[in-house]
Amino acid sequence: MKAVLLVGGKGTRLRPLTCRVPKPLIPVVDKPLMLHVIDSLPDEVDEVVVPVGYKRDVMEDYLARNPPKRRITIVEEREPMGTGGAVKNVEEYIDGPFLVVNGDSISSLNMRRFVAFHREKKAFASISLWEVDDPTPFGIVDLDEDQRIRRFQEKPTREEAFSKLVNAGVYALEYEALDHIGEGFVSMEREVFPKILDKGMYGLTFDGYWVDCGTRESLLDAFWTLMAEGGAAAPGSPVEEVGARDQVFVGEGSTAAGAELGPRVYLASRVHVGEGSKIENSVVFDDARIGRSCRIANAIIDEGVTVPDNAVLEDEIVVRDGCPRDE
Ligand code: GDD
Ligand code: MG
Repeated sequence: MKAVLLVGGKGTRLRPLTCRVPKPLIPVVDKPLMLHVIDSLPDEVDEVVVPVGYKRDVMEDYLARNPPKRRITIVEEREPMGTGGAVKNVEEYIDGPFLVVNGDSISSLNMRRFVAFHREKKAFASISLWEVDDPTPFGIVDLDEDQRIRRFQEKPTREEAFSKLVNAGVYALEYEALDHIGEGFVSMEREVFPKILDKGMYGLTFDGYWVDCGTRESLLDAFWTLMAEGGAAAPGSPVEEVGARDQVFVGEGSTAAGAELGPRVYLASRVHVGEGSKIENSVVFDDARIGRSCRIANAIIDEGVTVPDNAVLEDEIVVRDGCPRDE
């Protein structure tokens, strides 16, 4: 079985972080976002096809240096084709029922169960579903008692929102679904789903967690979710000495003596935090140096950044070189 991984977006809402690194390669706890998604695919997926335009070279370089266990084929997408167009663009790699996965969220969806559900229902298309309070940034569905989808609507207004069950971004599709994707720029959600509803679309909800990693707040949330899940990050070096509170991870070679960390702090490797600094709800990537008596909250500090003494950084993403040009 093949899976198409959709990671073609530019990650605009995560700038300037995404000027250095494409969103799929942003480290989330122990590995890049993209690998969280790839590693969750069922064993029967023997090839992951990834149509990419933006920063394709960076991604190819990363995969060459960190060869993944599963076969990953990067296919050039010259112009963004939309979520449906991108799938159509890699049609030649698909040979039967297949999976499509939005690469910008992490979740506890059991993909093996999801594929089994698709088969049991003899569905033409199946969608993973998650309940949220505000469905307006997502695609919503109306489900019947047999889990069949009666309606699908992308990005409803508050008035239009007939459901709180949203598309969690994993689809199982029959091969023939490709025939319903037109040429050029096509949105899977706006154009294809409404067209194939009557062929049998089913929705599967799941328990656990689902975090979209598209913004600073939600990316931070992804860290705390994975850390709470355990496994992904057992505490690294001893955190007692730094006055740490809950959900604090201090990575290899990082030091924070005399600083106050937490709640919710992730220091990657070789980070140094100066005495008297206080950090909460923030992630600091490799080799960053935080001066003394700094206050950092709700922030992402990128690799190699130097923060001067007494700095106050709140609600921001700080990178070393900024965005050199408007990419
Ligand atoms: N290759 C390629 N080409 N990938 C694309 C393109 C494109 O032109 N446009 C978007 N993608 C990728 C994005 O990188 C992302 O991983 C995924 O497709 C979904 O696109 P987003 O732009 O992030 O869409 P969204 O977050 O507004 O909404 C989608 O995801 C929600 C769940 O997170 C929709 O599928 C919603 O229905 C859904 O609820
Ligand atoms: Mg998204």
